[in-house]
Amino acid sequence: MNGFTIAIDGPAAAGKGTISKAVAAHFGFAHLDTGLLYRAVAAKVLAGADAEDAARTLATDDLEDESLRTPAVAQAASQVASLPAVRSALLAFQRSFAQRAGGAVLDGRDIGTVICPEADVKLYVTASAEVRAARRYKELSDKGLEVTPQTVLADVQARDARDMGRADAPLRPADDAVQLDTSQMGIADAIAAAVSAIEGKLNQHS
Ligand code: CDP
Repeated sequence: MNGFTIAIDGPAAAGKGTISKAVAAHFGFAHLDTGLLYRAVAAKVLAGADAEDAARTLATDDLEDESLRTPAVAQAASQVASLPAVRSALLAFQRSFAQRAGGAVLDGRDIGTVICPEADVKLYVTASAEVRAARRYKELSDKGLEVTPQTVLADVQARDARDMGRADAPLRPADDAVQLDTSQMGIADAIAAAVSAIEGKLNQHS
């Protein structure tokens, strides 16, 4: 499966992470959550670093920190993600990951449109803002974070607006993406739909 690349994009809390991990495990491919790159840059900026320097010097260890999953870091991530210098500093790492032998799954906002426009399969995973906010609320409150449904919904909507409205690499489905609306789907159904869309392309690949 040399160089077989799966691009999974979509808005905040649509289920990309869960689907991407499951798809990578199913096909034995490597997985990169590209949101973590922007979250790690944001965490450094919140600690006082310059955004472009932080992006240029990012190390894999920086992606491990559990605190990257907080709402404050998510908001700051969507702010640093609108800076073209930050995006371009992170481009080469993502492209080389996509080309690794054995196949790769990358999830994010611009994988099918900018990072890997030649990806073998592109999925655009979405759900209504209310459903996404309810899922994110459960995830954060299960971790013990002090959040309310109202603030989580407002955060999701603010991030959607910023991610879709930015000039550089805005969030949008690639023209050739398979769209998957998970509003009415459980996790198992969403994973099964993604696996079957990918299997169709894999069979044509070899
Ligand atoms: O997990 P969730 O969907 O809430 O967010 P994430 O994928 O961790 O991404 C955090 C933020 O990073 C997003 O709101 C985007 O602004 C930015 N991002 C991006 O611009 N491009 C990507 N490929 C991935 C994330």
